[in-house]
Amino acid sequence: MNYNKKTVKDVDVAGKKVLLRCDFNVPLAKDGSGVITDDKRIRAALPTIQYLLDQGAAVIACSHMGKPVASFDKWVKKQAEKGKDPATLTEEKWQKSLKELRMEPVAARLSELLGKSVILADDVVGPDAQAKAAALKSGEIMLLQNTRFEAGETKGDPELAKQMAALAGKDGVYVSDAFGAVHRAHASTAVVADYLPAVSGFLIQKELEVIGGALADPKRPLVAILGGSKVSSKIGVINNLLEIADTIIIGGGMAYTFSAAQGGKVGDSLLENDWKDYSLEMIEKAKAKGVKLLLPVDTVCADAFSPDANAQVVKAGEIPDGWQGLDIGPETVKLYCAAVADAGTVIWNGPMGVFEFEKFAVGTKAVADALSKTSAITIIGGGDSAAAVQQLGYADKMTHISTGGGASLEFMEGKELPGVACLMNK
Ligand code: 3PG
Repeated sequence: MNYNKKTVKDVDVAGKKVLLRCDFNVPLAKDGSGVITDDKRIRAALPTIQYLLDQGAAVIACSHMGKPVASFDKWVKKQAEKGKDPATLTEEKWQKSLKELRMEPVAARLSELLGKSVILADDVVGPDAQAKAAALKSGEIMLLQNTRFEAGETKGDPELAKQMAALAGKDGVYVSDAFGAVHRAHASTAVVADYLPAVSGFLIQKELEVIGGALADPKRPLVAILGGSKVSSKIGVINNLLEIADTIIIGGGMAYTFSAAQGGKVGDSLLENDWKDYSLEMIEKAKAKGVKLLLPVDTVCADAFSPDANAQVVKAGEIPDGWQGLDIGPETVKLYCAAVADAGTVIWNGPMGVFEFEKFAVGTKAVADALSKTSAITIIGGGDSAAAVQQLGYADKMTHISTGGGASLEFMEGKELPGVACLMNK
C-alpha cells in the first residue's frame, strides 16, 4: 500500500521542538500502585522518539491516560450515574482518581527504555509545562501531564490545541505516533495540526501500511475472524469486510445473536435482540457477495458465568435453558482452524470465547495456535484479541499486533480517522 502521509523523515527537525503525541494509555495494576502491567505501547513509540532525538530535536511528548474527569462536578455526575451515593463523593476522592492517572509511571518506564532522563511536567499547558518546554534542549525529552486533565482535550478545543502547539514554538513541528488514539478528534490528536506542520511517526505508518495493505490489496484468500461479545460493536466491521474478505468467521458472544436470529435456542447466552434482523441481513449479504460466512456448529456452554462453572458441549442453537455459551465447541474449532490453514491473510478481531477463564479459553487458543502455524500474514486487531494472543503466549508468532483497539476497529470499518486525516499528505 502506498503510504501517502508525510513522516518524520520528510521534515527537518534538527534544532527544533517537536510536539509528539503518543498513545501511552497503558494498563496499570488495579491496586493503585502505578505499576504498568503491559508497556507494549511505550515500546512501540521508541523508534520514532529515538529517531527524533538522534536528529537533534527537543521532544515534548504527550498522551492521555485513562478517562479522568477534569471537573469535580462532572465527576460527581458520572459517579452518580454509575450508581454511587453522591453523599460519599468528596473532592478528595476525585483528586485521588486524578492522581492515579498521572504520567509519573510512564515517564519512569520511558526513561528506563530510552536510557536517559525524561523531564516530567506537572501540567499540560500550564506554567510548569511552559517553563520546561522553553528550557528544553536539542536531544532532550520531556513528557506533559495527562492531556485529559484539560477539559478541552476531549472536546477538541482549538484554544487548548493552540496552547499545546505554542509549547513547540514558532519553528515547532507536530508528530503523531498515537495510532491507538487516531480515531479521536481531540485537541492533541487532531486539532493541534491546525497550528503546526503535522507529520506521522513510524508507528502510525507501520499500522496503516500493514492493516491498510491487508484491506486494500490482501494476499488471498483473506479470512476475517470476528469475535467479542456484541454484534452491535462489530456491525461496521462485518459490513465493510463483507465487501473485501473471502471468508468471515464469527465467534464469541456475538455468535449467539446470529444463532437466535436463525431460530436457535441460546439459553442465557449473550443476546442482542435488536440486532437479530441485522444478523440475518449479513447472512444474506454474504450469500449475495459469495463470501463464505462461517458460524459455530457447536458450543461449550456453562451453568454460570464463572471460571469453574459446569460445562458441556452442545450443538449450536441447542443451548439448554439456564445455560450460556462461553466458547466455541470442538467441531467449530476444527472448522475454523481448517479455514485459516490455507489463508493468504488473516485479520482477527475479538476472542472466540471467555478466554479470561482457562476452561473457556480453548477455542481462542486453538485459533491462535492455527494462526501461528499458517504461512498467512496474520494481523491481530488491538484490544481484547491482542490481550488474548499475548496472554495465551502467541504474541511473537503473529505478523502484526495492532496497538490500537478502537482505532484499528474504526480503520477496519473503513472510516476516516481524524488523527490521520489531519496529517500532511506527501
Ligand atoms: C485505547 O486504549 O484504545 C486508546 O488509548 C484510546 O483510548 P480511549 O478509548 O479512552 O479514547
